[in-house]
Amino acid sequence: MVKEEHLSFGSVDVVELAERYGTPLYVTDENKLRANIRAYKKTFGNTSIGTDIFFAVKANGNLALLKVLAQEGAGADVFSAGELQLTKLAGIPREKILFNGNSKSEDDLRAAVESGVKISVDSRDELRALAAVTDERGKEAAIAIRVNPDVSPDVNPKIATGLKESKFGVPYPEIISICEEVKQYRNIALTGLHCHIGSQILKLDVFGEAAEKMMNLVMQLHDRGIELEFVDLGGGLGIGYSDEDKKIAPTPDDLAAVLLPVLEDRMSSLNLKLILEPGRSIVGSTTILLSRVNTVKQAHKNFVAVDAGFNLLIRPVMYDAYHEVVVANRQNEPASTLYTVVGPVCESGDIIAKDRMLPEVKRGDLIAIHDAGAYGFSMSSQYNGRPRCAEVLVNDGEVDLIRARESVEDLLRAQKVPERLT
Ligand code: LLP
Repeated sequence: MVKEEHLSFGSVDVVELAERYGTPLYVTDENKLRANIRAYKKTFGNTSIGTDIFFAVKANGNLALLKVLAQEGAGADVFSAGELQLTKLAGIPREKILFNGNSKSEDDLRAAVESGVKISVDSRDELRALAAVTDERGKEAAIAIRVNPDVSPDVNPKIATGLKESKFGVPYPEIISICEEVKQYRNIALTGLHCHIGSQILKLDVFGEAAEKMMNLVMQLHDRGIELEFVDLGGGLGIGYSDEDKKIAPTPDDLAAVLLPVLEDRMSSLNLKLILEPGRSIVGSTTILLSRVNTVKQAHKNFVAVDAGFNLLIRPVMYDAYHEVVVANRQNEPASTLYTVVGPVCESGDIIAKDRMLPEVKRGDLIAIHDAGAYGFSMSSQYNGRPRCAEVLVNDGEVDLIRARESVEDLLRAQKVPERLT
């Protein structure tokens, strides 16, 4: 039973969760996760273009979540050999995995070729290195070329990835010639074009612009006798972190409404598949981060100091990102006081939430930070000698631990002291 004044998440009383598992604690609602991926599948399942959803593992690499997504039929966009390994363990089939990255090592290329996954090639230099690896291994690789489409979404510049000056992809004017070059390599098959224009995109017109640019390339290639199997338009759909953004937060239906008029005729006639790589819009809303109040201080501002900082959720510091915070053990009390919620890290920038109206907060209260499922745990660190926190999965009142809390031994595990210093 959830107490009335306590926040309920996945039909579980989060105050009890915090007592049982300790804080800080990431809590994910399995039903929300399934609902989010199903929304994509429903929307794009109803179109004439065959669509695969490749979840962007960088947003959340928890194996239990990946298993849920694999059960729902998702594929994966991976950015490293480590993420590739996670998706294999989750049971995602190799045909549904795209190995991305702008800086792949020989080992990365070997891992991708050996696994038989699709590879998104980010440069001419990489294409040549990959050709050498496929010849050395005597294996074939199916590739996409990562296109830099030169479009500018209205987002924080740190998360715009398709700008002309961005480090990702092959410059747009060079795409046709790199695709022609692929023909020289006997073990490489060009099967797709790929782009990803940015993240947390709320104004969707840029998706239409990118899709048009990609289709323009597809048609030019078609005219030259180069036929593809898929076009991958990446991820990027934004979510409503603040009340204001919630009013305009797009859905997969909204994305389809922008994409389909551009894609449907040409893709159907060429029998091309569409791949999308959502990360945030699949996992962002599924998770809260619970954090205990260590201290309340009236100084220049009213500070609420909690036990989770940018070591566990770096988004507010790195992108000035907004996350809603609530007092989870007294959620019905009216907001009365202006607080700034800060973490325990030894840096002035370690601020989770600036100037928020909350009920009067006391030491020992429990704070819930909302929408922390994307780029939360996956960007965490052990900075300041803080072991990472635990993660639990809740499902209709059931709770499972899906990652154990780290201990001080985990901080020491890989460290070595030279003999002469002992
Ligand atoms: N595909 C590629 C090639 C990507 O680089 C990304 C994200 C995605 C898909 C998924 O994008 P999403 O649907 O999640 O927007 N750490 C930042 C976001 C960085 C995104 C990096 N690439 C944040 O916390 O806002």
